[in-house]
Amino acid sequence: MKLNFIKILLSLLFVSSISFGSGEHKISSPDGQIVFSFFLRDGIPNYEVVYGDESIINSSAMSFKFKNQPELSNLSCIDYKTNNFREVWTTVWGQNKKILNEYNEIILSLEEKNPNARKIKIIVRAYNDGIAFRYHFDEQKENNYFEITDEQTYFNFADNFSAWWIPNDYDSEEYLYRNTPLDQMIAAHTPVTLQSKKGTCIVIHEAELKNYAGMTLEKNSYPQNSYKSVLVPYPDGIRVKQTAPFNTPWRVIIITPNAEKLISSNIILNLNPPPADKNYDWIKPGKYVGVWWAMHLNKESWVTGPNHGATTENVKRYIDFAAENKFDAVLAEGWNKGWEMWGKGNGAFSYTESFSDFDINELSKYAKSKNIALIGHHETGGDYLSYEKQLDAAFNFYKENNVNIVKTGYAGRIRPNGYHYGQEMVNHYNLVMEKALEYKIMLDVHEPIKPTGMCRTYPNLMTGEGFRGMEWNAWSKGNPPEHITVLPFTRGLSGPMDYTPGIFDLKYDQYKKDEFVKSTLANQLAHYVVLYSPFQMAADLIENYKDQPAFEFIKNVPTDWDTTLALKAVIGDYVIIAREKNDVWYIGAVTDENERDIIIKLDFLENGNYLMKSFSDGNNAHYITNPYPINIKEEIISEKTEYKIHLAPGGGFACEIRKTK
Ligand code: NOJ
Ligand code: CA
Repeated sequence: MKLNFIKILLSLLFVSSISFGSGEHKISSPDGQIVFSFFLRDGIPNYEVVYGDESIINSSAMSFKFKNQPELSNLSCIDYKTNNFREVWTTVWGQNKKILNEYNEIILSLEEKNPNARKIKIIVRAYNDGIAFRYHFDEQKENNYFEITDEQTYFNFADNFSAWWIPNDYDSEEYLYRNTPLDQMIAAHTPVTLQSKKGTCIVIHEAELKNYAGMTLEKNSYPQNSYKSVLVPYPDGIRVKQTAPFNTPWRVIIITPNAEKLISSNIILNLNPPPADKNYDWIKPGKYVGVWWAMHLNKESWVTGPNHGATTENVKRYIDFAAENKFDAVLAEGWNKGWEMWGKGNGAFSYTESFSDFDINELSKYAKSKNIALIGHHETGGDYLSYEKQLDAAFNFYKENNVNIVKTGYAGRIRPNGYHYGQEMVNHYNLVMEKALEYKIMLDVHEPIKPTGMCRTYPNLMTGEGFRGMEWNAWSKGNPPEHITVLPFTRGLSGPMDYTPGIFDLKYDQYKKDEFVKSTLANQLAHYVVLYSPFQMAADLIENYKDQPAFEFIKNVPTDWDTTLALKAVIGDYVIIAREKNDVWYIGAVTDENERDIIIKLDFLENGNYLMKSFSDGNNAHYITNPYPINIKEEIISEKTEYKIHLAPGGGFACEIRKTK
């Protein structure tokens, strides 16, 4: 009795966890605003989440179904432990140099009171920017092999929040976000972003997705606003095949008072362990150009032939341009044998044999002489098994040719079968990431598994896709301007985005009559600040940057930051983000299809005078009819300045702010 009392008192003092006899526990965030309650109802774990005086998640059950084993049932809480933790860690690269990782934790040990007597733990962490919990399957008395047929983590939301979501296609996340009342969301990928009437933002996602299937959310018929985790299955219907002891990924509920604060949330990174090694000098963020957009415009081809893009001569032209304009790297897609078979069969691609008009030895020497890195490219077309077989040879081949950055791709259905986001593919993506780390290779993964903060542990996982990037503007109706105002609050919360911005010839009528980029020129510049990626491409054909004064902004803008702040944002309407590197600030602002004038305070600057060089939409700029007018202006500002940003329809604003001497 006395011991229990002391335990309760200690929890209250240090971890804010209160234990009641019925297996009921409460844990709150270090600032006390977020409270997670745990209890057992008829032997089934349940939880609730409250933020200040707002209910976020009402009583929601947590359980599992298995093949050849009964569903978890009749659990009781046999023990619990509480911890608190605080550290400030330094990123290898990122939106912020220093990150505070502070949380209260409770580990609940549960055991079935039936003949199975299976044991699991539920580990809960409460941060100031959200709640996370994961299941730990302990080593069991008898059978340690689990085939999970259904993870039943419920999210019974407290209200019909406003929701931004994409459908749960198990092979693609390349959709435009829909904004609907939550109850119209039938099935969605995570991150799913919600906002309450008060403005509170809630994001459901996962962290450290490892040896498990990706989680989607599906609506339940009852109660209202109720969702359940649905794991992406294997072809045989099983969702996860695992041997205890093992952890599931973290189920994360980010909670912030407004949209701006979402941009400062680090919970997803914080939930991943630090990297093993301390020396990552070989990892270098940067900017690149490349043989890429030309193929999407059908100007050049991936396959060798009269219009082949990745020829030695053409890639040299890009290397020259990169060197002259202080870029770091050049991408060449369509360099290897197999492109003629893309999507047509197994084992199509060779990752060690170039087309005869692409001399990798010569290019490697040429690039080195100009201090430019070559970015390699491995398109698998979804044929991941053949890629795995060649992986060592492929990475060795690149290392021999001084290639330390590789863009991978999985455009095509998974062969022989399966889904992009099932457990097998999760394991594949992680294998490539681990292997690349061994080879000291940085990765840019297209058609990836969604990021879950694993770039903290594997800092070579630089950037990736898994959303509708620029390419869609080349061969579809394209991305409306609103898309860029939604991405930072949805997909962007999970990890860096290789959107490949910087198209200056926004209409490209010469190549495509009906397609165009729905953006003004200033909006393109703003992408570099609004959409975070440690590798940013200047994606246009290099000839389109000739004699363009606006190109100066892309040349100067960093891709790695000491500080990041969202100044003002309304998800889906506009967003203004400020980032700082070595005391130089950059601001990027984008709007949707509506023109806006927005006043921002510059009080995040230290006292003093600064030179602001800005790039804003010019007279009558409009993303459809008149995208090119741009005003480039220099003016003196200070931390007291209230600055008016003008945004044309589909427009943008970008600026650089340096202290005056
Ligand atoms: C899709 C990728 O997103 C794109 O960047 C690439 O050019 C093509 N696949 C071909 O690999
Ligand atoms: Ca793609």
